[in-house]
Amino acid sequence: MRNCQPRALTLWRFLENRSSTKIQYVSMSDLSYFGRTVKHLVICSLTACMFFLPLHHAFADAQKGKQLFQQNCAQCHNPLRDATGPALYGKENEVPGGRKWIYNWVHNSAAVIASGDKYAVNLFNQWNHVQMPPFPQLTTQDIDDILDYVKQVGDEAKQAAAAPASGGQQGAAPAPASNNNLLYGIITLVLAIVALILLQVNRSLNRMANEKEGIETPEPVPFYRNKTYIAIVSVVLFLMAGYFLTNAAVNIGRQQNYEPTQPIFYSHKVHAGINQINCLYCHAGAEKSKHAMIPSQNICMNCHMAINSYSGPQLYTPEGKAVDGTAEIQKLYSYAGWDPKQRKYVNAGHPIQWIKIHNLPDFVYFSHEQHVAVGKIQCQICHGPIQNMDVVYQFSDLSMGWCVNCHRTTKVHFTDNAYYSNIFMKYHEELKEGKIDSVTEAMLGGTECQRCHY
Ligand code: HEC
Ligand code: HEC
Ligand code: HEC
Ligand code: HEC
Ligand code: HEC
Ligand code: HEC
Repeated sequence: MRNCQPRALTLWRFLENRSSTKIQYVSMSDLSYFGRTVKHLVICSLTACMFFLPLHHAFADAQKGKQLFQQNCAQCHNPLRDATGPALYGKENEVPGGRKWIYNWVHNSAAVIASGDKYAVNLFNQWNHVQMPPFPQLTTQDIDDILDYVKQVGDEAKQAAAAPASGGQQGAAPAPASNNNLLYGIITLVLAIVALILLQVNRSLNRMANEKEGIETPEPVPFYRNKTYIAIVSVVLFLMAGYFLTNAAVNIGRQQNYEPTQPIFYSHKVHAGINQINCLYCHAGAEKSKHAMIPSQNICMNCHMAINSYSGPQLYTPEGKAVDGTAEIQKLYSYAGWDPKQRKYVNAGHPIQWIKIHNLPDFVYFSHEQHVAVGKIQCQICHGPIQNMDVVYQFSDLSMGWCVNCHRTTKVHFTDNAYYSNIFMKYHEELKEGKIDSVTEAMLGGTECQRCHY
């Protein structure tokens, strides 16, 4: 790299000479010298490319961490403030065992607590036994990306807070997080183009040198007919197309984060959160059938014959528009055919057409009863912190990998469960003899295709 500049200058002078047709005066040894110079420059710029490409990549990772954080953790965690879960900034220095502990915790916090880890048990008690869902699908790299993102946000906030104290007077307007992705992309592109041009120049110089010495050189093949170029470009295009096509095909029908606008602005936060109404009061099916079921308006009216106005905290749509809760209750009345003035039903009303959010394909068998009543899995593990959502969105991606990963890692309530009292005797015995210490759903056949596919 050190040599690049003086050599570039010489090259520039040479090109200048050439353009003013002084080329005749350049000696042979000069020409081969310049040939070498150009080669050097090519190497210099390629090296520079390689230097910038990984940087570009590092920024992509911070982006990825942000995305992963928002998809998986943001419902409950803020990097800087306590929310449903604790603030995450600086935690990697507090937990026993640093990031390694966090990998285990994020993959399956219940297992860490069950193992008797003192820090984990204390934490769980402090946070009123709210169970953080397991994320077996996140790799340690993913978790690193998330933690890096949290650290970046925290560090930036710290700097912003320190700046005014150290002489600044403009208040605590945080420095905008600069996104250098584009910049590095452009630099990489420019360097690549420069390298290409220099390669061409190098070739012409070689040809000129050869001509001077009387060596015949074949007409150069333009790059778009050069077989090597064509082969490389085809392979790259083929791989890229393959990658995007498979991804798109696998994602058909998936709709994580789907959050449709419902006919009535019905808030789970108001009902299941603030007013602590049990999920099963409305979704009674979850314990005794395949479907959890959406309640009919009769169930709403059990309470809303009496509750005809809303006086809780101001509600907002996800877009930030204010919602009038009382007007939304009026909508419920018109669906139910209820006249609040006469306090009686005046017509049969018409059903509320709730938009279904979770949709498994027809070829998958899934039963709530098996998971809720037998498996004793909390709704939030699969549906996220519903009690904090004003508008429900799809929390999990409902992919096959999601189901199977959980079956591999989740221990079933085996010994104290009537469902298993007289089946799988082999495991009962092995447990007694201490050969195994737990039974996972996968050991009971939960990864066999026909359990989930008709
Ligand atoms: C449904 C809510 C929820 C989600 C989603 C969630 N967490 Fe948590 N998390 C908690 C709660 C609650 C605790 C406190 C311990 C407990 O009660 O289990 C916690 C604790 C933690 C801790 C330990 C903090 C400490 O004080 O030592 C870490 C680290 C953590 N979570 C990371 C994550 C990461 C990373 C994600 C995303 C991949 C995530 N959490 C997603 C609720 C959640
Ligand atoms: C007072 C009745 C009521 C209570 C209590 C309630 N829900 Fe709901 N739930 C509804 C209604 C109505 C809908 C349909 C409208 C919507 O999606 O917001 C719904 C929708 C849902 C959905 C999305 C269903 C779909 O379309 O895929 C999930 C998941 C859900 N509830 C889970 C829960 C959980 C978990 C709790 C407890 C924390 C709970 N609900 C408590 C009435 C209730
Ligand atoms: C093991 C994961 C899991 C658990 C635990 C779970 N659900 Fe579900 N839930 C799902 C899946 C998957 C669907 C989509 C089902 C479908 O499309 O057939 C769903 C759909 C729903 C729906 C939409 C209506 C329906 O029945 O399809 C509601 C409402 C619902 N769940 C509520 C609950 C409630 C309330 C609980 C807790 C009592 C709960 N779920 C526990 C995975 C789960
Ligand atoms: C167990 C009693 C109960 C049931 C059942 C119930 N609600 Fe409510 N609802 C309440 C309470 C309590 C409030 C809050 C009133 C307040 O804070 O002033 C409320 C508030 C509301 C609001 C205004 C706030 C908001 O969420 O937008 C609407 C709309 C509403 N309910 C619709 C429904 C619908 C639709 C159903 C049936 C799916 C239903 N409720 C079932 C008790 C209930
Ligand atoms: C959060 C963990 C978790 C997730 C996610 C999950 N399951 Fe399960 N599943 C379990 C557990 C635990 C059991 C065993 C319950 C029991 O019988 O004790 C189980 C049991 C089952 C069974 C019964 C298997 C048998 O032994 O007959 C089926 C079928 C099933 N799950 C399908 C699914 C499908 C389909 C999905 C995804 C849409 C899914 N599960 C997602 C934890 C999970
Ligand atoms: C624990 C439940 C479960 C088990 C066990 C399971 N699957 Fe699936 N499978 C699913 C779910 C859920 C989907 C829907 C995934 C989606 O929509 O992305 C699915 C989708 C598929 C698809 C459609 C392709 C796709 O990605 O949408 C195929 C093919 C498939 N499974 C084959 C298998 C085979 C073969 C096995 C046995 C080795 C198997 N499955 C075992 C739950 C399961």
